[in-house]
Amino acid sequence: MTAVDDATVRDADRLRAEMVRALRDQDAITSEAVAAAFAMVPRHLFAPEASLKVVYDLHRIVPVKKDDNGLNVSVMSAAHLQAVMLEQADIEPGMKVLEIGSGGVNAAYLQELVGGDGEVTTVDIDGDIVDRARLCLDDAGYTLVKTVLADGERGVPEGAPYDRIIVTAAAWDIPRSWIDGLTEKGRLVVPLTVCGTTRSIAFDRDGEGLVSRSYRLAHFVPMQGEGAAEERKALLREGVVVQTDDGRVPLNPQALNHALDAPRLVRWSGAAWDLPDELELYLTLNLPSVVRLHAAKDVVDQGLVNPSALVGVSALVSEDSIAYRTRRDNEDTGGFESGVIAHGPQAEALADQYSELLRRWAEHHRRRGAVTFRYLPGPAPTPLPQNAVLRRHGIVTASWT
Ligand SMILES: C[S@@+](CC[C@H](N)C(=O)[O-])C[C@H]1O[C@@H](n2cnc3c(N)ncnc32)[C@H](O)[C@@H]1O
Repeated sequence: MTAVDDATVRDADRLRAEMVRALRDQDAITSEAVAAAFAMVPRHLFAPEASLKVVYDLHRIVPVKKDDNGLNVSVMSAAHLQAVMLEQADIEPGMKVLEIGSGGVNAAYLQELVGGDGEVTTVDIDGDIVDRARLCLDDAGYTLVKTVLADGERGVPEGAPYDRIIVTAAAWDIPRSWIDGLTEKGRLVVPLTVCGTTRSIAFDRDGEGLVSRSYRLAHFVPMQGEGAAEERKALLREGVVVQTDDGRVPLNPQALNHALDAPRLVRWSGAAWDLPDELELYLTLNLPSVVRLHAAKDVVDQGLVNPSALVGVSALVSEDSIAYRTRRDNEDTGGFESGVIAHGPQAEALADQYSELLRRWAEHHRRRGAVTFRYLPGPAPTPLPQNAVLRRHGIVTASWT
């Protein structure tokens, strides 16, 4: 049992109430049920090594375990993201819920949401994490939550079917076990990574497959085990990296690095630059041969790569050329105009293709939530439909309204 003195409890209660208010103000919490769950669970008991200030900060994670390279493999997720995903899940009392990726606190929120008549199971691939979650859950009084040690790729069939499955590690694919593990009206909330960016997508069952109801940008530690991502990363030079999860994309690091030394072609699209996460999603799924280009600050400061690559930007590549987006102030209309920077022998052709997509997005799809995702399990059709992403167990498609 963790010893917590009265003053700490009072501080925690105050910080928790402030956290709930702020989560409501930021529209992360939109329902009374989720607000009540966040108000009830003593979050600090699930991260006893962290300060109350960090634990109750909306946007801070608490690192729990790192790998040999110092990268997080398990964290207590930020309250803001947990609230968003629980709202996406739309959980009702009495439901049966499976959480993939444990920590304890999110399972405690789930237990509050399903109540005494519901059931919560949380599964983690890492024995240390399961043991820690069990201790924290018992300490905080959530003894009803079941903890399981297994690779969540296979679900937890003993408890299926579930009304809700919530995945709390970044998934690269959706295994059959998650779809088959849902009730007919079940919902899967999963942070799905496509070409290096992750969105928490709420999927409902739709026959054999899934159809999305909402999506939000998210950040998670990657899924380990059988479901780990298939990705290629290439260092072009110190501080410049490209990554892709599409096996068909040509990746010739030497030629691309050489292209960066070629003169830069800049093409302005005339289209508005706006809503960068929605624009990126459109580009990622519509550019025919896409990678994510990352550049370190010193490379950007030297003027070799544009600042858009500091947080990663969709780039169109061929064997020997690369094009990616940029922006400039639009003095006529206010805001920004999008444009393309291209290098290499095919710079002109790539810049034209990229600019056309920037214009199409601005003209037809420039709004939040314009995409419907579908997941279709089974062998991929040939040819692959437009806007489709090939995965091991099926395809993800995206359509814009
Ligand atoms: C962000 S943490 C989970 C946070 C947690 N849900 C909370 O309450 O804050 C992600 C977890 O996913 C786990 N994980 C990664 N791959 C997994 C897999 N294949 N099956 C089950 N758990 C997995 C990691 O061990 C890690 O503990």
